[in-house]
Amino acid sequence: MSDTKARGETILSVRNLKTYFDTEYSLVKAVDDISFDLARGEALGIVGESGSGKSVTNLSLLRLVPTPPGKIAGGQILFRGRDLLQGGEEDMRLVRGGAISMIFQDPMTSLNPLLRISFQIAEALRLHHGLGKQEAKAKAVELLKAIGIPDAERRADDYPHQFSGGMRQRVMIAMAISCSPEILIADEPTTALDVTIQAQILELVKGLSDENTMSVIMITHDLGVVAGLCDSVCVMYAGRIVERAGCDELFRDPKHPYTRGLLDSIPRIDSAGRHRLYSIPGAPPNLAGLPAGCAFRPRCDRAMPICEREYPPEVALAGEDGAPRSVCCWLHAAGHSARSEA
Ligand SMILES: Nc1ncnc2c1ncn2[C@@H]1O[C@H](COP(=O)(O)OP(=O)(O)OP(=O)(O)O)[C@@H](O)[C@H]1O
Ligand SMILES: [Mg+2]
Repeated sequence: MSDTKARGETILSVRNLKTYFDTEYSLVKAVDDISFDLARGEALGIVGESGSGKSVTNLSLLRLVPTPPGKIAGGQILFRGRDLLQGGEEDMRLVRGGAISMIFQDPMTSLNPLLRISFQIAEALRLHHGLGKQEAKAKAVELLKAIGIPDAERRADDYPHQFSGGMRQRVMIAMAISCSPEILIADEPTTALDVTIQAQILELVKGLSDENTMSVIMITHDLGVVAGLCDSVCVMYAGRIVERAGCDELFRDPKHPYTRGLLDSIPRIDSAGRHRLYSIPGAPPNLAGLPAGCAFRPRCDRAMPICEREYPPEVALAGEDGAPRSVCCWLHAAGHSARSEA
């Protein structure tokens, strides 16, 4: 796990963000009133099961949610104090791939199959840094070397299909970091890769965040990735953040029953003997028809009557390592416990 860093100034502040999809049959609240802050140089993990709203959260940050059916229904995204939701599309284009860049979940859909790799990397440099053609190409080759592409001068002129999956993913990273972004958003950047390449890519991102004081938002359902890279973590469930904490603290002392379930379902090297891994009962909920009260209640072994009636408040807890700590669970709300409810 990463050493605890001193928290820098906040550069991104997401306030009460709501992103909804108006589908034919229902309104899907994919992101429902979430807030979080990102400090300079911080690596923040966003974890949660499939469909919990991780990708939609991050697409919303760059205003890339497909509209319709999606729309940002409320909130603020303050980047260096300026609300990105208020600016024009032209402003946003300069932010995307410049100050904030993103590695998408599927690299093949983000690389143009008809253009040479070097051209695709150079394009961002020409747009955001005004580099000339030759200069941009030389920088592209330099970046390919930096991300460990062997024989970079020659391979730079290859097309995406001539690269392996791991190499394409690294090219995506090269493109994302080419303009020295202040924030790198990485959406499951290593899911499709084998573990050795996965480790190399994480090392690369970690190195960049340590060197450049670049901030990282790492979206993943893999808690191993979070443990290896992140300073702090937000756990999402059904479109909301249900727990947030410093990374070490979350692993040491999870508070939300869902987070506990997630942690119990990963193998641990220090567990004595052989035992079956836990799996959270039930399935992630359908966001189009969430029950009243806490969305995790139907799967929770510690649910109380109030969990069925009302969504729990966000309870602030004392965080040990400087990162904000809170949990949305009635078990931790003052005056509520299994006994007082019984
Ligand atoms: N274009 C769309 N139209 C309608 N619903 C959508 C659209 N995109 C996302 N959603 C819905 O938003 C919810 C959140 O999706 P999201 O892609 O953010 O999940 P995720 O947490 O990234 O999952 P995964 O781990 O599988 O990538 C899902 O219920 C999904 O069905
Ligand atoms: Mg996703």
